[in-house]
Amino acid sequence: MEKNYKRTLVTCALPYANGPVHIGHLAGVYVPADIYVRYLRMRGKEVLYVCGSDEHGVPITIKARAQGVSPQDIVDKYNRIIKDSFSGLGINFDVYSRTTSKVHHDIASGFFKKLYDEGKFITRESEQFYDDEAKTFLADRYIVGTCPKCGNPNAYGDQCEKCGSTLSPEELIDPRSALSGSAPRKVKTKHWYLPLDKYEPWLRDWILENHKEWKTNVYGQCKSWLDGHLQPRAVSRDLDWGIPVPVEGAEGKVLYVWFDAPIGYISNSKELLPNSWEKWWKDSDTRLVHFIGKDNIVFHCIVFPSMLKAHGDYVLPDNVPANEFLNLEGDKISTSRNWAVWLQDYLQDFPGQEDVLRYVLCANAPETKDNDFTWKDFQQRNNSELVAIFGNFVNRAVVLTQKWFGGKVPGDLKPEAIDRETLSQIPVCRANLEKYLETFHFREALKEAMNMARIGNKYISDTEPWAVAKTDLDRAASILHTCLQICADLAIAFEPFLPFSAEKLRDILRVGIEAGKDFRRGDADGFGDTENCYGPMDGRARHTESCGELRDPMYRLILKWDDLGSESLLPAGHELGEPALLFSKIDDSVVDAQVAKLNATKAANEAAAKAAAAKEVEPQKEEVTFDDFGRMDIRTATVLEAVKVPKTDKLLKLTIDIGIDRRVIVSGIAEYYSPDDMVGKQICILANLKPRTIKGIESQGMILMAKQGDGSMRFITPEEAVCNGAMVG
Ligand code: 2FM
Ligand code: ZN
Repeated sequence: MEKNYKRTLVTCALPYANGPVHIGHLAGVYVPADIYVRYLRMRGKEVLYVCGSDEHGVPITIKARAQGVSPQDIVDKYNRIIKDSFSGLGINFDVYSRTTSKVHHDIASGFFKKLYDEGKFITRESEQFYDDEAKTFLADRYIVGTCPKCGNPNAYGDQCEKCGSTLSPEELIDPRSALSGSAPRKVKTKHWYLPLDKYEPWLRDWILENHKEWKTNVYGQCKSWLDGHLQPRAVSRDLDWGIPVPVEGAEGKVLYVWFDAPIGYISNSKELLPNSWEKWWKDSDTRLVHFIGKDNIVFHCIVFPSMLKAHGDYVLPDNVPANEFLNLEGDKISTSRNWAVWLQDYLQDFPGQEDVLRYVLCANAPETKDNDFTWKDFQQRNNSELVAIFGNFVNRAVVLTQKWFGGKVPGDLKPEAIDRETLSQIPVCRANLEKYLETFHFREALKEAMNMARIGNKYISDTEPWAVAKTDLDRAASILHTCLQICADLAIAFEPFLPFSAEKLRDILRVGIEAGKDFRRGDADGFGDTENCYGPMDGRARHTESCGELRDPMYRLILKWDDLGSESLLPAGHELGEPALLFSKIDDSVVDAQVAKLNATKAANEAAAKAAAAKEVEPQKEEVTFDDFGRMDIRTATVLEAVKVPKTDKLLKLTIDIGIDRRVIVSGIAEYYSPDDMVGKQICILANLKPRTIKGIESQGMILMAKQGDGSMRFITPEEAVCNGAMVG
């Protein structure tokens, strides 16, 4: 049976502070969470909305080292960038703190210490790579070597980026330290482990029996982890960036980033609400919901709950509505390949169109499977849904009201059945909308909100008030009265999804909204106990009647979620504001420019990959004896004549002077040299190679070429001219 919770604590995955946020993060985690929080608040629910940056871990140290700055510099920079860009998209957490804060440091340390004191960890000794020159243990990423699967000489100790194989440092051939380049040696080290195997029976019961309502992708991933059986997980690392392990004998060790990061949800809550945070984390009347991406499922459904269970004081997540991944133009989003649409770039390129991105990312959210974002789809959804349906309907209703009724909501002077029938569809949409929002089906929810706009748009097209007004003003009054009620419905229903446009619409309708309370103003700790001033969560100075500070005294009319679908939201005589377009068309040139930007990225990536491949060096061949080598007759020669071998792309027929004779050699170099480049060139050849017939031509020897990793070739040419036939050796 569903429990009646008093409050909801919504957390969003803490983004790593080593790069900006992209559309994949937004579609997977932050847009759905924001919709959910806005919705709950409109329904009068008490919600705490927590996020912040994840500022520990090896990748941050690697980035810092690459840029020659400190890890702190890196996280300071991205903490600010990420926070600002979220806010630009209308995502304003109650708190956006960081895992380098003092509060977090204390809470995470205390958490570890309690588990340690209570004997909840086991310790294990293992052998790990140590760099004697740099005097440090090496995280897997800091070890490079040759991939055993594909021979890439620059594979990392955790992964080969060339063939994609997951590796362990032990598997690398000739491992070397990325810090000093020296060969690391194995040294014994001790770590603390959370024995997840002991929590397995409890987890099976808690998730597989008691949380069957979790999304199938989440439930399925948990089941497969549990069926595969859990192993103890190390919660410490040998690293100098992180929270020191707070026990004796742990010098040089820090908490593993995945141990401290989720505790960040708790610390950030405490930072915001120093006196009342515990009710949000320790009272069983709190419903905890984690919004995350699919790569975080195991940590939020298995590891963190086991930590919370081991600790004993905290509530457990009631739901973890994780999404799958969003791809971009058919390719996996990748930070290292810069294959992404970065939120900060979007905000710069599309000012005033924040909601278009929110709309497209929700409409196309990867809720059950990976999905693709394309700029064409973005344009199409804007032009044929937001502009053509929602915007067009509102604009027609408001402009006609201005024209025929002086901008005041006309009375329902001559009702007809179609008006009632139309309005009666709205509560049906509302019921579906609520059902979908409450079960984390945001795409379907958005469709229902959009259906309300479709209903309005169809109604105004069918009833043609612009024509009716010329002959029957009373009937036109009723039609526009009906249309304006639907406009007010839209101003409510779209608030969670498109807060900027919903606000614009409310300004057009001159109405306020009861958008719920947040913690970003006033006496935050007094929430629920004292009178807080509150308003919409977009951070702008809007107030409702509840705090007695209406921004515009004309906005006496305050809409509430519960008004949605009622028949008289806007009374006759209510004065509207100026008409304004809610959305504007996006031209081909705008999306073409974005696609061109991506194509440039692709070209740059390909060029970089080629350059990297060219640098790749073949492993050494089998040993030969001096005598073996001595049998090779390698000598200098000059090209006298060069012609393409007919009907081939790669072959050149070269006539060469090798000092002892003139001969013909057929060589596969036409891709790299044209016949004209060749004549007069001095080269080296293997003269005593057994002749071979190639395309009907007898080839008497082989030209020596330096072949690079990408297949491209260059001649071996004497540093200055020598006589033909000089022996090379
Ligand atoms: O995957 C990530 O981006 C992690 N930084 C998410 C951490 S979520 C939580 F545990 F803090
Ligand atoms: Zn490989």
